[in-house]
Amino acid sequence: MKKLLITGGAGFIGSHVVRLFVSQYTDYQIFNLDFLTYAGNLENLKDMAGKPNYTFVKGDIYDETFIHQLFTKHHFDGVIHLAAESHVDRSIHDPLAFAKTNILGTLNLLNAAKKQWKNTSDHLFYHISTDEVYGSLGQEGFFLETTSYDPKSPYSASKASSDHFVRAYANTYGLPVVISNCSNNYGPNQFPEKLIPLCINNIKNSKPLPIYGKGENIRDWLYVVDHARAIDMIYHKGKHGETYNIGGWNEWTNIDLVKLLCNVMDKKLDRPAGTSEKLIEYVTDRPGHDMRYAIDAHKIKNELGWEPSLQFEEGLSKTVDWYLANEAWLNNVTTGQYQRYYEAHYQTTDV
Ligand code: NAD
Ligand code: DAU
Repeated sequence: MKKLLITGGAGFIGSHVVRLFVSQYTDYQIFNLDFLTYAGNLENLKDMAGKPNYTFVKGDIYDETFIHQLFTKHHFDGVIHLAAESHVDRSIHDPLAFAKTNILGTLNLLNAAKKQWKNTSDHLFYHISTDEVYGSLGQEGFFLETTSYDPKSPYSASKASSDHFVRAYANTYGLPVVISNCSNNYGPNQFPEKLIPLCINNIKNSKPLPIYGKGENIRDWLYVVDHARAIDMIYHKGKHGETYNIGGWNEWTNIDLVKLLCNVMDKKLDRPAGTSEKLIEYVTDRPGHDMRYAIDAHKIKNELGWEPSLQFEEGLSKTVDWYLANEAWLNNVTTGQYQRYYEAHYQTTDV
């Protein structure tokens, strides 16, 4: 049985990746390594508990000794590395936390893989990254795999640094690696600090919808299950040493997106048209706010045959339905209930 380590599997994207791999690859033993920070949540994977090919491991990727012991014990065949601090606004307040997890945590994993694998090509270290490493676009153009790095926030600087380390380990030590850089994901299980779930939660509770600056910044949105499908294809068919950009061909200004969401929610909550839009409030801009992200996703389409499968309106409708149906989840993550429970009941796994 092949042993695959997925880091950050209790988080938003990771939970969808774990579910896909555990369900589709019953001949793999999937290890989900997660520190259960505020963003990680075992409720996201409650349907996986008890599956014979699934093991949860609590641990911190920043803990070098623990990571080496884990690799020594399990001899993983591959790694899909998603664990990270992921929120730009938090990175502005606490850059060091982002350097520790995103840079040094990644280095610990790279070192453990290098030591175990001795550059044999039947292993793979797959690093999940972001389009934010490329910086900010004007009104024209797209990020290509060849676009120069120009990270502008502490979050994107930490992700860019980890990308560089991954490539350096491939170049210097012959570690088999692949990297993908994806645009903004949305869908079930996303912590309600990010724009879409924050607005869904606030609309539900008739609270203000904070729009940074003029709301003219543009993001490219992709349904999270489509990202998980792309990760599956890249892990199994991607060429070692390559980078793949993943995007939705789906650009929205923040204000247009929030207005669309208001519309969808008015209908679902049976409120008169225009009710939710009245909650919009323009607030002080995010410092250093990147203007526009847009991905050219031709390479992954041409080489691996991946394309987004879901139209945005359909994905948004499914997302709103999920949040409305999971009120307890929303309450528990926003009040820190799950985190307090895990801190009291889950120790770092003894390896
Ligand atoms: P998330 O914040 O929802 O989840 C991160 C997970 O990592 C959580 O489960 C958390 O508990 C875990 N984690 C954090 N620090 C850890 C540590 N020190 N040790 C072990 N586990 C730790 O993030 P996400 O949005 O699911 O993003 C996952 C990955 O995808 C990240 O690497 C992020 O940079 C990248 N990414 C995200 C997006 C997006 O739109 N969300 C887009 C492109 C790339
Ligand atoms: O592009 C990929 C990246 O997308 C990922 O790497 C990050 O992990 C992920 O968090 C996301 O980053 P963004 O900063 O684009 O996402 P966020 O949801 O925080 O913000 C989306 C846009 O909405 C951005 O232009 C800022 C704006 N915004 C955000 C919040 C939270 C607001 O106007 N108001 C808000 O309250």
